[in-house]
Order: sequence, then C-alpha cells, then structure tokens
Amino acid sequence: SRAFTVLALESSADDTCAAIVTSDRRVLSNVVIKQHQLHGPTGGIYPPTAIDAHQRNMPHAVRRALQEAKMTMHDVDGIAFTRGPGIGGCLSVGSNAAKSLAAALDKPLVGVHHMQAHALTSLLTAPSASTTPRFPFLTLLVSGGHTLSVLATSLTSFRILGTTADESVGRSFDKVARILGLEWGKRGLGAALEDFCEAEPTTDEGKCDGEISSFAFPHPMRGRLDFSFASLHSTVDRHLALLGRPPTLAEKRALAREFQDAAVAQLCAKLRLALDACAQRGVTVGDVVVSGGVASNRYLRTRLRESLDAYAALSESTTEDARIELAFPPVELCTDNAAMIGWAAMHRFLAGDYDPYDIDLKPKWSI
Ligand code: KG4
Ligand code: ZN
Repeated sequence: SRAFTVLALESSADDTCAAIVTSDRRVLSNVVIKQHQLHGPTGGIYPPTAIDAHQRNMPHAVRRALQEAKMTMHDVDGIAFTRGPGIGGCLSVGSNAAKSLAAALDKPLVGVHHMQAHALTSLLTAPSASTTPRFPFLTLLVSGGHTLSVLATSLTSFRILGTTADESVGRSFDKVARILGLEWGKRGLGAALEDFCEAEPTTDEGKCDGEISSFAFPHPMRGRLDFSFASLHSTVDRHLALLGRPPTLAEKRALAREFQDAAVAQLCAKLRLALDACAQRGVTVGDVVVSGGVASNRYLRTRLRESLDAYAALSESTTEDARIELAFPPVELCTDNAAMIGWAAMHRFLAGDYDPYDIDLKPKWSI
C-alpha cells in the first residue's frame, strides 16, 4: 500500500519549520526558517519578536515544504504539529495553522510532544534497519536549546533522566568563545571554540601563566544526573579577571582547552550515571543516541566512545556483548525541525489515534 504522508509544523521556539515525511521514512522536505538575527547575541528568545516572525514566516514555510516535496495538500494524508512544550504564543502560530488546514481539508490531526520528537529522531534517521536503535535506548540531546538525557522505552514511554540546572552546554560554548574573542566562523561559535582548541600552537603565542595552565575546572553537581554549565564559563571569566592584563594567545588556548575538557568530561560522566540509573531499574540500554548541535564536536564524539567502552568493560554484565552502540544523527534533523514532529506523529496516524481539531496547547508539558 501507499506510504502515509504527513505535513508537520513546528514553531515552539525561534525556528519556523514545516516538513513532509512518509511512513516509509522518507523526508520529502524539511524547511527551517531561522530568526537568529532577530534575537540577542546571548541566544535568548524575546517572545513578541519570535511570535511576529513565526506569523510572517509560517505561510512561506508551508508553501516551500509542499513545493520542495512536489506536492499539493491533496497528497497529504495527515497533519502534525508541536503541541508543547514551548513558548505559548509561538506554539499557537504552528498549531492554529495546522488545525485550520486539517479542519478545512478534513484530514486527521496529531499534536506532538517536542522532546519526544527529539528522542525519536534516531528511528527516522538511522541509515539502515540494522543500525536503528532498539528500545530501550538513551538520547543525549546537547544543543543551544536543550541539555537532556532521555530514556525511551517505547514509542510512547519516555523518562527525562537529567536536564540542565542553569544553561545549555551549547550556550556555554558560545559564551566562552565570545569571552575569548573568537570569530563566528562557518560552523558557528561553538565549533570555532573546538577548532581553536585543536589548532597547532603558533610560535608567537606568548607565555602561559602557571595559574592558568594548572587550574582545575569544577565538576558541578558531581554524582547527580542533572547538568550544570554556568560555573564553567564563569571560571574562565574569573581567571581572566585575576590575570589583570589581556591574556596571551597561549593562555586563551589553555583556557579554551580546559573548558572544553571540563564540559565534555561532564557530559561523559552524566551519561554513565544515566546508564547506572537505568541499570538500577533493571533497564539494559544497548544504544545511545547523541543529538543536537554540540554532538558535532569531534572531541566529544571520541571521548564518549572511550567512555562507553570503559563503562561496558567495567559493567558486571553476564552477557558476552556489553558493548553500547553510539549513534549521531545528521545535525539538520537534530536541531529543531518539523520532520521529527511528523515522524513522532506517524505511529498515531497509522493507529487511527487522532486529536480533535480544537485540542489545546501544552506550553508546559512533562514528558
Ligand atoms: O542544535 P543547535 O544547532 O540549535 C540550537 O539548539 O540552538 O545547537 C546550536 C549550539 C550552539 O550553541 C553551538 O555553539 C553549538 O550548538 N555547537 C557546538 C559545535 N557545533 C555547534 N558546540 C561545540 N562544538 C561544536 N563543534
Ligand atoms: Zn528542540
């Protein structure tokens, strides 16, 4: 039989998104209209501005999603939208568009939980059936908007194991890059910081103050599943202040590396704690999916693999294969997008489990 085709809309934060996905895992279009330039350099979202931009952009996003998929609304079998969590006014732009389209065209409607959609993305993006994560699996979502570890035990059951107590790991990379005066670069500030850490020192980097090269960064909330990153960039700030003069290039590089090291070490440590927490509940996790903008960090990828190998070697598992698979979905489907929303709605469309056209939003929605 013909694949089920979903038009999905997402507008929970600052990206206006529309996409068309099918039940046989094809992403026919995935339009994301960003509004970076409208908000402050710290990445905070100013709701009235975001709502305005969504209202301006959503019709274009829908139009482009259909055009790029070479479809009309008559080829669409169902309409999905983000029901929450998110900024109420922002959510309402996508949801009103979705509800009105569905009602006018007499198509089934499904409202989706944004975090569940992030957690299920790897089932859409896995290159083949043999690499598709199997339940129960853990998703580590590390981006500018989120820092989360989520356990998925089925298409409908999730548990957030850890979240950030202050700010996201991505924002923390951005802040340190800005403190150190790095340029944006092609891949953004976080990636610029990574590149700066990796670059070969030049001969004229200057000396590195002993205080800076030997200083240990904090391990916030040690032993807890929740993350915390604010103290990492304030450590960088404090050191620069103590120096009382502009840092040499060598000092900047030492601080950048120690920051990245501490941030990555924290992600590895909290992931192992999350695996422990699962094991204590009798849940054996065989797959870990790392998604979000920060997941493109090569140093993080290497360290996570080492960390999981060490974890598997230590575990007292009696099964011969304690190896934990590690997957990194493509970044364009890890950042906020509507393809993941359409995909997360698919099992409900296929089961005939639709929402009414007047369904409410859930700006605060536990998982
Ligand atoms: O998922 P994403 O593209 O969108 C938002 O959630 O905003 O994540 C963007 C974040 C930014 O904070 C960016 O600096 C960070 O991910 N990022 C990185 C790297 N690439 C992007 N952080 C560290 N290393 C990278 N290579
Ligand atoms: Zn998101």
